[in-house]
Amino acid sequence: MGGNQGKNIQKVLVLDFGAQYSRLIARRVRECKVYSEIVPYDISVDEIKKINPVGLILSGGPASVHVPGSPLYNKKIFELGIPILGICYGMQLMAKMLGGEVAKTGKSEYGKTKLFAKEDTLLFKEIPLEQSVWMSHRDSVKTMPTGFELVASTESTKVAAMENVEKNIYGVQFHPEVAHTPFGLDILKNFLYIACQCNPSWTMVSIIERSIKDIKEKVGKNKIICGLSGGVDSAVAAVLVHKAVGDQLTCVFVNHGLLRKGEAEQVEETFRRNFKINLVQIDARERFLKKLKGITDPEKKRVVIGEEFIRVFEEFAHELKDVNFLVQGTLYPDVIESGTRDAAKIKTHHNVGGLPLKMDFKLIEPLRLLFKDEVRAMGEELGLSEEIVWRQPFPGPGLAIRIIGEVTSERLEILRQADAIVTEETKRANLYRSLWQSFAVLACVKSVGVMGDERTYSYPIIIRAVTSEDAMTADWARLPYDVLERLSNRIINEVSGVNRVAYDISSKPPSTIEWE
Ligand code: XMP
Repeated sequence: MGGNQGKNIQKVLVLDFGAQYSRLIARRVRECKVYSEIVPYDISVDEIKKINPVGLILSGGPASVHVPGSPLYNKKIFELGIPILGICYGMQLMAKMLGGEVAKTGKSEYGKTKLFAKEDTLLFKEIPLEQSVWMSHRDSVKTMPTGFELVASTESTKVAAMENVEKNIYGVQFHPEVAHTPFGLDILKNFLYIACQCNPSWTMVSIIERSIKDIKEKVGKNKIICGLSGGVDSAVAAVLVHKAVGDQLTCVFVNHGLLRKGEAEQVEETFRRNFKINLVQIDARERFLKKLKGITDPEKKRVVIGEEFIRVFEEFAHELKDVNFLVQGTLYPDVIESGTRDAAKIKTHHNVGGLPLKMDFKLIEPLRLLFKDEVRAMGEELGLSEEIVWRQPFPGPGLAIRIIGEVTSERLEILRQADAIVTEETKRANLYRSLWQSFAVLACVKSVGVMGDERTYSYPIIIRAVTSEDAMTADWARLPYDVLERLSNRIINEVSGVNRVAYDISSKPPSTIEWE
């Protein structure tokens, strides 16, 4: 995993039982400046030895040790001499496998609970002994395995934390990784810094230095291209690769005409002028419009755009000589999820700007070990503007899936202007960063209005603004009325062809974030 980037770094592995928390655990460990990776719970002992981690964390999970066929890890992991922390189900399973007993309490414990820790323990060193923690479990450890000491309890869970300092194995029933456990990060730090003897050296500067070295080694004297999408991931990847190989890099930006206002200009300004990166802009606006003519079905739009994108890219790549590397802005969540996600297909999230599959390039994925917040931190460290680093996500098919009906240049222009006003006003109200996405949608119906003494018959603009953690679920944002009022006034007055503004108050599910 991660190619050479993983060499010589102290690593902590999170053994994943499919809990929603394991990703959070890995992120928290990284917040402690220690590199962590998520691996399947049934990873073999040989594989672990090969990775040579300094610590293992056994994540929680929805399973119960009492249900036959529940996931198990290899018992030999306890004989490796690597410090281990079990969390929730991770602790219960550990207790059971090491000869302890796990009871079905019949009682669930969910939510905030007061925890009482003992003095002179490793996990609670220099942390208040009485503190609030987040619990979410049904089973509990009833009898600890031999050699373990009880180090914390709550009112309803006696074994809330246990330690075997001699063997360097620890367990907590609560969730130290969630924000509702205020001293959770300190507990993790005690495990990482004392039990695993980690150095807090996984910092942005060190990540950048290591990545640059790695890219240089891989690319050598070869030429490399990078498709820019206007989003933060490809921007950060491009600047990082440029730092490593300079003029060997050429960036390509396909302007498919479905972009937000000023996007093409911003790419020009940032990459060519500020960073002095070789940039080729391909004006493919007409091509895409022609292909989209007459299409109203959302999935058809996605397929057409995805295919055309690949075609444009292929044509360009064909003209280039001696290029055999391609930069991809793949992030760690994609790496974790690829192959494991089995969700029903709601929309084809065509990765426009992604890899043309048939092309014969070797891939450089400099962000494949990073979470989104780490990519943003890297972007800031590399000197990218706030506007790019904090840009909200934007779908690959762009404005095409925000025009509910056929895409025409007139409709694109209306939507682009309205969308720019939404961005300006949410930024002015200091809301932009706290919103997952905020944008305009153009529904291709017309309604009657009156402007001056004239009757109008024009399009409505729908404003969509949502809060979300990961786009899987989302809530409509409670925008203040005065912001909505300004949006409505400005859009109707400044965008010709619009005479009505509506606000979308649907959450996801049952709706989706985009309208198509
Ligand atoms: P939905 O509408 O499914 O969107 O709730 C979830 C997130 O995905 C983005 N999205 C897309 N991104 N290609 C993309 O690259 C697509 O076809 C696409 N459709 C939706 C959407 O903007 C939101 O962030």
